[in-house]
Amino acid sequence: MLKVDDIHTYYGLSHILFGVSLDVSEGEIVCLLGRNGAGKSTTMRSIMGLTPPRKGTIKFKGEIITGKKPYLLVRQGIGYVPDDRRVFADLNVGENLEISERKAKEGEVWNKEAIYDLFQPLKDIDSRKAGFLSGGEQQMLTIARALMTNPEFLLLDEPAEGLAPLLVKILEEQINKLRDKGLTVLLAEQNLRFALKLSNRGYIIDNGVIRYHGNIEDLRENEEVRKKYLLV
Ligand SMILES: Nc1ncnc2c1ncn2[C@@H]1O[C@H](COP(=O)(O)OP(=O)(O)OP(=O)(O)O)[C@@H](O)[C@H]1O
Ligand SMILES: [Mg+2]
Repeated sequence: MLKVDDIHTYYGLSHILFGVSLDVSEGEIVCLLGRNGAGKSTTMRSIMGLTPPRKGTIKFKGEIITGKKPYLLVRQGIGYVPDDRRVFADLNVGENLEISERKAKEGEVWNKEAIYDLFQPLKDIDSRKAGFLSGGEQQMLTIARALMTNPEFLLLDEPAEGLAPLLVKILEEQINKLRDKGLTVLLAEQNLRFALKLSNRGYIIDNGVIRYHGNIEDLRENEEVRKKYLLV
């Protein structure tokens, strides 16, 4: 479904990604692991057209999308949950969702009701201003908002970061349900334990280079790689 081929991405003069390649097949949850500053978010931003790569290509469902504008990618079925959890603080929860609604061409999956079914806690705070939500509630809302665009493919950038263990567990269940509904996910993560529970294939990025690719069950066993690139 997604194929990233040998991309090089820069911020101004800083060369950040050095020939990153990865692919995600339909129905998979694939994780992109790496410590702070490794290049996870930059990879996500490169795919989403926010920081387009200067070299290399990105294909989505066989079509080249390199450098395409984010709103066009949303229309094509890519959802993006950035790492900053920005919500519309002055709008309430329900309005945050409505403003993002994009009707799917056929067989719509996500609308407000379906979202509240999955994210029960959001339903109870439907009319609360998003600026007053807790970190966990905001994270749920940013994921929910991306779902309102009815994506086929979702980029999730460190969704569990900074959440209390109980919330992480809930989030895990929710992401699993998304997979059951047929969503394909690329998950950027530092937390190996969280990633292990959700995905069976993963990449490790370090200093803008993919260092490992494989079954993440093997990663659990491979202490050397884990210590070297993940510090766990
Ligand atoms: N806007 C920017 N301008 C210049 N350099 C940046 C910018 N954003 C990130 N970088 C640098 O790019 C490198 C990769 O950062 P990136 O945010 O992709 O890492 P990450 O793996 O997502 O880390 P984290 O786990 O902290 O989110 C880092 O060295 C970072 O300092
Ligand atoms: Mg990041």
